[in-house]
Amino acid sequence: MVERMTDEAVSYTERSEGYDSEAEAVGWHGPAVVFGLAFPFTNPGETVLDIGIGTGLGSVQFHKAGLRVFGMDISSDMLEACRKKGFAARLVRHDLTAVPYPFDDASCDHTVSTGVFRFFANLDTVFAEVRWILADGGTFVFITGDRGPDEPAEVMVGPEHIGTNAPVTMYRHTPEQVTGWLINNGFRPIDSVGFSVWMDSRRSAKFPIRAYLAQKTGPE
Ligand SMILES: C[S@@+](CC[C@H](N)C(=O)[O-])C[C@H]1O[C@@H](n2cnc3c(N)ncnc32)[C@H](O)[C@@H]1O
Repeated sequence: MVERMTDEAVSYTERSEGYDSEAEAVGWHGPAVVFGLAFPFTNPGETVLDIGIGTGLGSVQFHKAGLRVFGMDISSDMLEACRKKGFAARLVRHDLTAVPYPFDDASCDHTVSTGVFRFFANLDTVFAEVRWILADGGTFVFITGDRGPDEPAEVMVGPEHIGTNAPVTMYRHTPEQVTGWLINNGFRPIDSVGFSVWMDSRRSAKFPIRAYLAQKTGPE
């Protein structure tokens, strides 16, 4: 398995301590929104893979709804913080830009990712991997940076906002881009909800994001 470290991941590694309270301070509603979108498609006993699980905020609600949670993250520190919560059935350290992912084909009923995809310019490869891992009819619910067609595709976010050691590039994808990647990889887009997240606990600036729900279509 190939593992690569990104600057973003190194930064997150250093701040898993206190991550959950910071998420609360910035009003991180992403996990609630994706759970609300995906819940009607879930059943107790099914499995959900959380890509970039971090401390587990994006998938703990699925656990409470009776699903088995698998998690993948590049940061061993974040994974350890998640492991301590005791709800994940399997946690794996892996870089989402490295393929293939260490999960069997059609081994998950659902995939979730919150607060991760905005650090990546192109999501086509990730979506292709998710298609392999999902069972037919499985749902894929995620959040990424949002923008209109004439708005900038990336913003450099300073340490004062995001709490990292160095500036980080955050990407904004149009619904047309995201829908294109989904359809290209055999997903049927079902719904999306645009909202925003504060960039820091002082709530000085907002970053636009969008949650998407899609379903894997039938066999290839
Ligand atoms: C903002 S946190 C989001 C954590 C969690 N999903 C949530 O909603 O609170 C971003 C997470 O993505 C992980 N991450 C960043 N780059 C990654 C990569 N290349 N592969 C896997 N995980 C990565 C970080 O380690 C971190 O845990």
